[in-house]
This record gives sequence, structure tokens and C-alpha cells, in this order.
Amino acid sequence: MVEYAELKLDGKVYQLPIIEGTEKERGIDISKLRAESGYITVDTGFKNTGSTQSAITFLDGEKGILRYRGYPIEQLAEKSTFIEVAYLLIYGELPTSAELEAFENDIKAESLVHEDVKTIMQGFPSTAHPMGVLSSLATSLTAFFPESLDPNRSAEKVNMTIIRLLAKIPTLTAWSYTNARGIRANYPDNSLGYVANFLKMMFALPTEDYEIDPVVVDAMDKIFILHADHEQNCSTSTVRIVGSSHANLYASIAAGINALWGPLHGGANQKVIEMLDAILKNGGDTKKFIDKAKDPNDPFRLMGFGHRVYKNFDPRAQILKKSADTILDKLGVDEPEFEIAKQLEEAALHDEYFIKRKLYPNVDFYSGIIMKAIGIPIEMFPVMFSIGRLPGWIAQWKEMRSHNEPIGRPRQIYVGANERDYVPVESRS
Ligand code: CMC
Repeated sequence: MVEYAELKLDGKVYQLPIIEGTEKERGIDISKLRAESGYITVDTGFKNTGSTQSAITFLDGEKGILRYRGYPIEQLAEKSTFIEVAYLLIYGELPTSAELEAFENDIKAESLVHEDVKTIMQGFPSTAHPMGVLSSLATSLTAFFPESLDPNRSAEKVNMTIIRLLAKIPTLTAWSYTNARGIRANYPDNSLGYVANFLKMMFALPTEDYEIDPVVVDAMDKIFILHADHEQNCSTSTVRIVGSSHANLYASIAAGINALWGPLHGGANQKVIEMLDAILKNGGDTKKFIDKAKDPNDPFRLMGFGHRVYKNFDPRAQILKKSADTILDKLGVDEPEFEIAKQLEEAALHDEYFIKRKLYPNVDFYSGIIMKAIGIPIEMFPVMFSIGRLPGWIAQWKEMRSHNEPIGRPRQIYVGANERDYVPVESRS
């Protein structure tokens, strides 16, 4: 039986249906409110607005719960692999071994990219940020697969685009990195798993054999799993809204990469290390940076702290903090940033400003320390986030299209000038 909320406007009562999710989350459906009453709702930054009903990821920010298709993130991070998680997110269930093998083989079969992509890539100056290069190259794939321009093709053809994205984005990422270093591009090695192949394409040099380090592969795999989806965040909402105009999947993903680039979103992992390095240069003075973050007249924020949804703890940050310890130990490296990060967390968690605003370390706080330890250059951190988030973006795009969702088009309250007459330029004062 449908329950209703009542809203009284201008003396009239409007019945608004209540929607309940499988985890008992409740929302008020206001989609017909304007047609019936003339009123819209206003919620800048969508702090309290549900844009869709989704069956992909469940997140409870108060309790620090994150589940992909019902599976707790802690179990997936410990027991699964990124490629299996990608399958789970995109197709809804964990694969059987035959399904997993077929999925991996399909991806391997598409891992090469057209040689002409190198010409496009070489047009970028070496100063280009890799996120800009990656989003441009993702869009350029439409030129090599023009049939993808129509996202209303058969499910089989759309699936081909999905496979191509999963297969080619790691190759494009590695190529953009080798290109920026002025080194010959490495081709995919299909004898390797997804993550090992990616790392080899990034780091193998023509002068020596590249040895796969299972500790590094596991660490990167875990980071990718933890980033794989996060329901209706900024970049995912971007992918869904761009796709809602029936823009093709490559263009929608490129838009997601650009949204992720910002330092308040996926670009935060790069900013965290830059901040920790700045603290180190300042003799490890964490207090100075905490005071700066608290100063309302200073735009500085503690990077890697705070979250729109998590108001208790970010489960991804907790997993990464633990793995940072293990990974640094196994690799035998000492990252001075890790010590500073732990001190900063400790100080902030006991500071009234952060306690009152429920600000805790987020996923970006510890991921950068692990990535730095395994040799990923700092400016590539947001790109690693993109590879991790790719299956989530794809799953969300696919879900949005399968629901036949209407074009995303928010409304506004206009607060500009009222109607006035045009004044010729010579008469303007
Ligand atoms: N340092 C200092 N103060 C902060 C911080 C921070 N990192 N984050 C929020 N605040 C303060 C903010 O100034 C505001 O204070 P007041 O109420 O006095 O005006 C209050 O906390 C609420 O902040 P908000 O900006 O209204 O919160 P939001 O939900 O709009 O923003 C956020 C969430 C993640 C953008 C923000 O916490 C932030 O900028 N954090 C730093 C950047 C960062 O680490 N981003 C990565 C997010 S996790 C990865 C991802 O999924 O994207």
C-alpha cells in the first residue's frame, strides 16, 4: 500500500507518495508537485535530493556502510578481484568461473588501441595533466567506433562498447604516461591479469625486464575495488545526466572523468600528498595546517577530510589505512607522509571544529600514500581513481538507460532582472 506525505501550500493539501527502498530508506516523490501546485523544490548541490532509484550500490553514511549489489565492501576488498567486482557492478551478480573467464577474454581481445591514437596523444604538450589527456582520448574513441554514437543500439552492441572501455582505458592511461615521459609505449600483455597488465604497460622499460610484484598488484587491485562505485556522487551523476541526453557511452564516461578531476572529488588524492609534503616542508607542523583549515577567511581545507554522505567514518579509508601499514611493510619502504597523515588524523579527530562538523578521513586520505609507495606519480592519482570508478560509471549509465530515464534537467528559481527594454549601445551610460 502506498503511503503519502502531506504538504500544505496556499491552504491546499497535496498528497506526495512515499518511496521506500530495500534498505528502508525513505523518500518523498515530488515529481508531480509543480504540475499540480506550481511549486518546485530547491536544493542547491542536491544535498537532500534523490535523482533515481538504483539497485547498484547501498551506502549508509551514518553507519559507515558501503555495499556493491549487497556485498559488503570489506568482503570484496579482502576476497574479490577488481575484474570480478567490475562484472558484479555491470551485470548485477558475481560471475561463475566460466562467465569470469569469458569476460576477461573479451576484455583482452579489445585491449589494443588504434595506432592513430598515438598521433592524437603526441599532440599534447608534456605539461598536459593526465586527466585532461585521458578524457580527450576517451572521447576520441567515438571516432574509431562511430557506430557507438547511437546508444540506442542492441544490448549486444552496447555491451561491445562497455568491453572496449574496460579494455582500452588502461592502455590509454599507460600510453599517456609513457608519452609524457618521452618513452616508447608498451603494448598490452594478454598473458597477464587486468591489473598486472596495466602496471606492466605503465612501468616496463625497453632496457630491462619488468618483474610483476604481487604485493603491488594486490595493492592496486584493492584500491580499484574500493573506488569502483559510490552511488550518485558528482562524477556518476554527471555520467548519468550526460547519458540521459542519449549522448554515447564514450562521451558520458569522458564527462565523468572531467567531473572527477576536481580537487573536491577525485582530484583530492593528489592534493592530499601535496598537502602532506607541504606539512613536511614546514617541519611537520600539523597544527598550522589544522588552524588554516578552520579559519573561515582561508579557503584552505584539509584535503582527504570530510564527505557529503559519510558522517561517522568512511569504510574505504579504514580499509586503506590498515593496508597502507601492511603494504609499506611488505615493500620495505618508509613514506614520511604516512606518519604525518596519522598525526593529522589524530589531531583533527580530537578537534572540536572537525568533531562538530563530523569530518573524518575519506578514501583519498590514505590511497595516495599507497600509490606513492608503489611508484605511481602523484599527478596520475586521479587517473587511477578513474580506472577504478569506470565499472561504476558504466553500471550506472547502463541502469539509467535500461530504466529509460528522462533527460536530466533541473529547474531553478530565477532571481535576475525583471523585463526591461533594450538600450542601443550609443545610449548606454
Ligand atoms: N577541511 C576543513 N573544513 C571542512 C572540510 C575540510 N576538508 N570539509 C568540510 N569542511 C567544513 C566546511 O567549511 C563547512 O563549515 P561551515 O559549516 O562552518 O561552513 C562544513 O565543514 C560543511 O562543509 P560543506 O562544504 O558544506 O560539506 P559538503 O558536503 O558540501 O562537502 C566535501 C563535502 C567532500 C566536498 C568537503 O568535505 C571537502 O571539500 N573536503 C576536502 C576535499 C576532499 O577530500 N574531497 C574528497 C571527497 S571523497 C572522494 C570522493 O568521493 O569524491
